[in-house]
Amino acid sequence: MNKKIFSGVQPTGNLHLGNYLGAIKNFVSLNNDKKNKCVFCVVDLHAITTKQDPKELKNNIRETVATFVASGIDPKRSIIFNQSQVKAHSETAWILSCVARMGWLNRMTQFKEKAGKDKEKASVGLYSYPVLMAADILLYDTSHVPVGEDQKQHLELCRDIAQKFNNDFEVIDFFKIPEPLIQKEFSRIMSLKDGSRKMSKSEPSDLSRINLTDDKDQIINKIKKAKTDIFPLPSNKEELKDRPEAKNLLGIFSSLTNTSLDKNINNFSGKNFSEFKEDLSQALVDKILPISNEIKKLLNEKKYLDEILLNGYEKANEIASKKIKKIHEIVGF
Ligand code: AMP
Ligand code: TRP
Repeated sequence: MNKKIFSGVQPTGNLHLGNYLGAIKNFVSLNNDKKNKCVFCVVDLHAITTKQDPKELKNNIRETVATFVASGIDPKRSIIFNQSQVKAHSETAWILSCVARMGWLNRMTQFKEKAGKDKEKASVGLYSYPVLMAADILLYDTSHVPVGEDQKQHLELCRDIAQKFNNDFEVIDFFKIPEPLIQKEFSRIMSLKDGSRKMSKSEPSDLSRINLTDDKDQIINKIKKAKTDIFPLPSNKEELKDRPEAKNLLGIFSSLTNTSLDKNINNFSGKNFSEFKEDLSQALVDKILPISNEIKKLLNEKKYLDEILLNGYEKANEIASKKIKKIHEIVGF
């Protein structure tokens, strides 16, 4: 089946192994299938829902593009562009915010997590963030959205918004209802310091994540210091239930090497963590180091990165402009 793919990544710096294994790795295989039409967006409008330093934001936008390309997304085959450049995104988000219901947004768990205890101080943008995400997706008649597990609820909201718009304005099939593409296993990579918390850019300790720009020594050091428990590696999946760190590290290894968890449980059963960690470090160095080196090289080629964004803008803008024009007609503007 020919798929229309759309996904976004926030340019908030520190792209990490969770972003890679949960999302970007999947972008690359979708990009490699010639039947697919892929659009990958650097979502800077989403990034400013929390405070960003303007100079850093500009650098982080380029770094996100560099990460896409270094990971294997071909800018000739896929559209890579910057959300704020295509004006239809913010405009559609406004229109969809008049379709989405407060009750729906009130259920979003990511807002609750990100806003923390003092919700009154969170930006309005952080609250309506999933509506902008729906606009991103729906403007491109997207059929499939590859994301990590944490975005599943936002995708469901996007489907609800699309359906309500189509019903309210009696335009059946105007917005296509997108399907999430979430990897069955290892779709949620956890912190190296706490197997019950998601690996995240915003975690203060750098030791909690492998950044995609880490060098060999940093990778090895972080794995050496990664939290484990005191038991040898388990002999079956059942035992992993109460051992979040062992589960996470074995999951990372399986995902990196494209091998099954069962096979790795068998291979490492009864071994000490120190032995397993050597293999894990090696797998990480093999996969992440070439990407890290390529990102650093590309960051010196600002003109090339800006050209990718300009080219992507032209293509994305053409698609989105047509769709927003029809939205205007439907709404009665
Ligand atoms: P963000 O950096 O929040 O824009 O996320 C970009 C993509 O990475 C999204 O598809 C997320 O679902 C995915 N992602 C972020 N953190 C993780 C994680 N710890 N495990 C798996 N996927 C993740
Ligand atoms: N909200 C997503 C995240 O934080 C990023 C995002 C924005 C996105 N727009 C999107 C993902 C559209 C998929 C499709 O990870």
